[in-house]
Amino acid sequence: MIDIRGLSYFVAQVGNLGDWQCYAEDVLGMPTSPAPGGALYVKMDERPFRMLVVEGDSPRYLASGWELAGEKAFRNALAHLEAKGVEWQAGSAEEIEQRGVQALAIVVDPAGNRHELSWGHRSDCLPFVSPQGVPRFVTGDMGLGHTVLPAPNFDATLAFATEVLGFEVSDIFNFRPDPNGPATRIHFLHCANARHHSLALAEYPVPSGCVHVMVEVDSMTEVGRAHDRMQAHGVPLSATLGQHLNDRMTSFYMKTPSGFDLEYGYGGLQLDWAEHSAFEFTRVSIWGHDFSAGRQ
Ligand SMILES: [Fe+2]
Repeated sequence: MIDIRGLSYFVAQVGNLGDWQCYAEDVLGMPTSPAPGGALYVKMDERPFRMLVVEGDSPRYLASGWELAGEKAFRNALAHLEAKGVEWQAGSAEEIEQRGVQALAIVVDPAGNRHELSWGHRSDCLPFVSPQGVPRFVTGDMGLGHTVLPAPNFDATLAFATEVLGFEVSDIFNFRPDPNGPATRIHFLHCANARHHSLALAEYPVPSGCVHVMVEVDSMTEVGRAHDRMQAHGVPLSATLGQHLNDRMTSFYMKTPSGFDLEYGYGGLQLDWAEHSAFEFTRVSIWGHDFSAGRQ
């Protein structure tokens, strides 16, 4: 089995890196630096980066980076891929250098989402200093946050996430826009850390390649300050402030320059999986999170 420790980074593409630089520094409150290959690093903690932005034709999400504990875990992961008959590709020397890891294996799930498995991130351990005075983002052993990916062919993609990548279901939501109509499934998945979910799969296509990425701050004040910066910089709101039922995150959603949404939140559940039982919830949020805000 593959023992994923957390979401170590994601890769996004944009036409002009300057758009992401301004968004990261002025709105998210994260410093940036040049990355190898003419790309951009966005820093969230003591690591050099948690977001890697590359220049390309279309704005979109490119990949999710999943961290393994070490070389043995990485070798075990490759053996598991072989045993499952899953094709994988070794990362190029340029990709390994750019991501700052010891080794990289790339797999594509049945929905076309690219997953990068790696171990041994490289770090200068320089402190996080926010250009907007954000004290810290909640990362560490729990990874950078979570990512929600499109999975129109839901059963096959869910099977890949659980049986190949080794995620386990935290809980499930069957979204019914029409109470008597068919359900659209969203399953929330955890790996070997306490964060309620590091990955979720949504049963619909998303042109940008990602439903949203979530980053977490350590106070409600910082969510409010980020909300102010979003408004000050004219960043489109995708969903109003609200609190999720399943992971209890209080958050709002806004657009990124790569076309997918970013959830900026506080207070997400941390769980002891030995004590947890999966359940089905019937409302996305306890209050707020009006997604019609993003369709106006
Ligand atoms: Fe989320």
